[in-house]
Amino acid sequence: MARTIEIAPSILSADFAHLALEIEKVESADADLIHLDIMDGHFVPNMTIGPPAVASIRKITKLPLDAHLMIERPERYLDDFIRAGANWISVHVEADAHLDRSLRYLGENGIKAGVAINPGTSLNLLEEILPMADYVLIMTVNPGFGGQRFIESSLDKIRKLKKIIASNEYRARIEVDGGIGTENLQQVIAAGADIIVAGSAIFSAQKNADESVRELRRIAECQA
Ligand code: DX5
Ligand code: ZN
Repeated sequence: MARTIEIAPSILSADFAHLALEIEKVESADADLIHLDIMDGHFVPNMTIGPPAVASIRKITKLPLDAHLMIERPERYLDDFIRAGANWISVHVEADAHLDRSLRYLGENGIKAGVAINPGTSLNLLEEILPMADYVLIMTVNPGFGGQRFIESSLDKIRKLKKIIASNEYRARIEVDGGIGTENLQQVIAAGADIIVAGSAIFSAQKNADESVRELRRIAECQA
């Protein structure tokens, strides 16, 4: 059974020369998922890793891999990320014209199917797809980079989505991503977030990554 609040360290801000060590630290601190930011230089102005790197990461951790696809027409690559060992996959509502097909396909392949939404995109666009989603990833910064400032209006968006999910008794959980750390974690949880992505707050903090995960967990458990 999943914890009420799950912590998903994003390795975007980790030291890639010592990635195995970085992942080991957050795993030892009992992180729930590893969040992988996949960027193609088109959908977002940055590039990161692709399926081969995901396959290598798969070999060094037991934690579920949560692939956040910030790529154009992600449907072209679902099989590659499934084969690479991703367990959760989210596609952006702005990037995939056939969300129904993609989410169905992920579900049929035993993958947790997520739909991600940018700060400037209305929740209305999720109306038809929401019953099928295992989770909705609300971007709380504009995607592309780690270490950006949390967009405050996201709190209302999280609350609004939480209400829609509750009133329709959908199963979708809410993942939040961008600018989240010890200073605003309570607020995002109070607004309705279930899965917390944190990159720079874990990997670029003054503390070790494992201590940072433990600190986020303490705050999350007080709030939940
Ligand atoms: C941004 C990515 C995030 C990013 C979060 O495009 O989707 O997952 O790594 O990093 P922080 O927590 O530093 O905002
Ligand atoms: Zn992300």
